[in-house]
Amino acid sequence: MTDNRTWLITGAGGMLAQDVLARLAAAGIPAVAATRAELDITDPASVREALAAHHPAVVVNCAAWTAVDDAESREDEALRINGDGPRHLAEACHELDAVLLHVSTDYVFPGDADKPYAEDAPTGPRSAYGRTKLAGEQAVLSTLPDSGFVVRTAWLYGAGGGNFVRTMIKLEAVKDTLDVVDDQRGQPTWTVDLADRLVLLGQAALAGTAPAGVYHGTSSGETTWFGFAREIFRLLGADVARVRPTTSAAFARPAPRPAYSVLGHDRWQQAGIDPIRDWSEGLSSAMPVLRAESQEGNP
Ligand SMILES: NC(=O)c1ccc[n+]([C@@H]2O[C@H](COP(=O)([O-])OP(=O)(O)OC[C@H]3O[C@@H](n4cnc5c(N)ncnc54)[C@H](OP(=O)(O)O)[C@@H]3O)[C@@H](O)[C@H]2O)c1
Repeated sequence: MTDNRTWLITGAGGMLAQDVLARLAAAGIPAVAATRAELDITDPASVREALAAHHPAVVVNCAAWTAVDDAESREDEALRINGDGPRHLAEACHELDAVLLHVSTDYVFPGDADKPYAEDAPTGPRSAYGRTKLAGEQAVLSTLPDSGFVVRTAWLYGAGGGNFVRTMIKLEAVKDTLDVVDDQRGQPTWTVDLADRLVLLGQAALAGTAPAGVYHGTSSGETTWFGFAREIFRLLGADVARVRPTTSAAFARPAPRPAYSVLGHDRWQQAGIDPIRDWSEGLSSAMPVLRAESQEGNP
């Protein structure tokens, strides 16, 4: 039987949060959507008040500073949101005995491995963003050893926000050829697939069948940005030869990008939940949704 106690979603205006809310609605689970204007996670009083008002059984923290390059020059501001925010949420969840699902990132790893990072592999962020997200993970895991869940994701795309797939759909329509980096490996992940896993994990946590700790919420399989772009072109019915490989050196950016950001998924087995399907299957399902969105002229 579905546990239909209330969930609260922070950062509710963001890309992932919108799909988490849609999945909860589809599952008939009542949810409070807290946008930044309604609940600023950097303000401990506001966090305590919101949780006390709604008394959620599960809180999903989708709120974050996600501007990876800007974090290099504004690390203190990013840390308030990505490090202090999750700590305030964890403390409030502890007081109310609520489960906290906190979304994190592959950037907590150095990105120089040659096999998938296990959930307990040593971390070692190379960017300011990664350092701030690691601080958030540590706050959640230390404050809620029995009811804190850190779900690391990567290369996210979805209908509710700016992302690589949306950019490729737009560029395909206006550019003859595109140069895309072929020396960074990762796991493109559709927000709907991740939202699905978050809902299953929260339900398992409430049922007492999922151990607390770290999970990897990325698609199975792996590719490069170049491979990802070619698959998007193929699904658009465009000539894939228009996408050409290049190197990261051609796209210098303030924050270093991990060369190898592939995550292992063994932990899901302990919760009795399958990991997310292969990235190419997720992309096939997502493309009609994202194409329709771009035809509607969304920015
Ligand atoms: N996108 C990716 O490729 C990717 C990769 C790895 C991990 N992640 C993680 O996945 C999660 C969701 O990412 P996303 O792409 O859905 O992000 P997003 O679209 O940027 O959404 C983040 C939301 O958090 C809100 N927010 C910022 N500061 C806040 C605060 N102090 N209090 C409350 N809300 C606040 C933002 O509001 P404003 O718009 O008003 O600032 C925004 O609505 C994040 O934890 C992110 O670190 C994302």
